[in-house]
Amino acid sequence: MKNSEAVGKYAAEIVAKQISKKKNSVLGLASGRTAIPFYNWLVKYYNTGRIDFSNVKTFNLDEYYGAGFWDKNSLRNFMQEIFFNRVNLKDKNINFLDGGEKNWREVCKNYEGEIRKSGGIDLQILGIGRNGHIGFNEPGSSQKSKTRKVKLSSMTRKVNGIKYKEALTMGISTILRARKIVLLATGKHKSEIMKQVLYGEINSKVPASFLRKHGDIIFIMDREAASQIKRFK
Ligand code: GLP
Repeated sequence: MKNSEAVGKYAAEIVAKQISKKKNSVLGLASGRTAIPFYNWLVKYYNTGRIDFSNVKTFNLDEYYGAGFWDKNSLRNFMQEIFFNRVNLKDKNINFLDGGEKNWREVCKNYEGEIRKSGGIDLQILGIGRNGHIGFNEPGSSQKSKTRKVKLSSMTRKVNGIKYKEALTMGISTILRARKIVLLATGKHKSEIMKQVLYGEINSKVPASFLRKHGDIIFIMDREAASQIKRFK
């Protein structure tokens, strides 16, 4: 794709199609800078009447451990501002890991339970960390991992500019259970990792490489992120 706008628009189209096919779709959502144009497109589609979110359910991938919902640095707060407050999603249909809750084991177990109860995630949106993380499944995360508490790598903490040392995240197995997955990657700084994800070995050194085992995955990249992939040079 030409740029991050085009990537966001393409992904928003996939969401629009999904919701027109199934009004009560269950979406898995990602935070992060890459996803901002995507959410802006979803808001545009809502404003023009193309998407109705009133029956849609969402599950976000992750949250900083120690960040309550209304903490201004929480990923929940990011999602409220960039997306939830701007469309007609119902509060009761928004699911989020509560990083402010001390009993994280319970929180993570319930989250897996809620995903199952909802019938499973129809469409999971992902970004990718420079070290290949998806959600906050840092290098070393197993393919069998479930929703749990994890340590953040120093690179992730630096790139995200946060004080939190840990996070709650859906596991790799939780992500791989989604029926359809769409990963967005934009910018030169994602080109090295995208080459590894698509052509390197599939193992936990690059957690996103496990996505290649999924039968319905789309990697959407802009020119910069795809610049180390021969076909797109
Ligand atoms: C963050 C989040 C991911 C996100 C990724 C990329 O740390 N945990 O869900 O997709 O890293 O972030 P960005 O889009 O800001 O590069």
